[in-house]
Amino acid sequence: MKFLKQSLLLLLTSALLFTACSDDDDDKKELGEKEGILLVTFGSSYPGPKDTFKNIEEEVKKEYSNMEVRWAYTSHIIRNILLGRGEDIDSPEEAMKKMKEDGFSKIILQSLHVIPGAEYNDLKATMEKFVKENEGMKVSLGHPLMYDDSDLDELGDILVDVFKAEKEAGEAVVFMGHGTHHEANDRYSRFQEKLTAKAANFFVGTVEASPTLDDVIAKLEKTGIKTVTVTPLMSVAGDHANNDMAGDEEDSWKTVLEAKGYAVKTVLKGLGDYDDIVAIWGKHLKEVKEN
Ligand code: CO
Repeated sequence: MKFLKQSLLLLLTSALLFTACSDDDDDKKELGEKEGILLVTFGSSYPGPKDTFKNIEEEVKKEYSNMEVRWAYTSHIIRNILLGRGEDIDSPEEAMKKMKEDGFSKIILQSLHVIPGAEYNDLKATMEKFVKENEGMKVSLGHPLMYDDSDLDELGDILVDVFKAEKEAGEAVVFMGHGTHHEANDRYSRFQEKLTAKAANFFVGTVEASPTLDDVIAKLEKTGIKTVTVTPLMSVAGDHANNDMAGDEEDSWKTVLEAKGYAVKTVLKGLGDYDDIVAIWGKHLKEVKEN
């Protein structure tokens, strides 16, 4: 009798356990089956970049017309500025959480960063944390624009083509990158090497790190060229492009170069404004989507 009681108890316990397990399974089944794309950028509070983001989204949708495309900005400061204007943009973690709630079980994050620096690595950590805390969710992350050597080559070819009139006229073109103390800052000097091989008078500088504007000016002086086009090597033409590059303040690149006697033309376009360049980000998206 005692044995029967114990068996019954065991049976009951097993049944309970089984129920508990199948509840868990139900939870997993409740994860939606949708697959979506989340484009992640630093963000910008300027009007121009809005069009750039729209262009990037259109290009991505051409390739993935059946998938929903959403956005997240990594910059708290930018998101707060926009919130003050009534525009509520998600952080990557907020966006992923919402996508899960909206029935997505597979998310492809595409970094719209230029180099694999701190921003990109923070995003990677955010993604890994989310995956750990949300069982069953499949999230992958596409590389930023200037990731490997083939990216740098491709980007160089495209930009030499974009500025072929300047090249043919024997003028110089200066690309203003952001720059970082992260080791990924090496992308700028490597890109300069690629660029030099394609167009001897195209130069790369950065706002925050090396190569500096002074490095660029030293190279310019050796060429003897007096006409320079300056343009951002950034995803959008936002604050840095409008102020640090093309602004009228005495330390803007335009002002500094003019003071040195150069005729300066500015092109306020971000890398995301060129469809061929967006295709490099698209290539990275495809790499993780097909894995
Ligand atoms: Co900055």
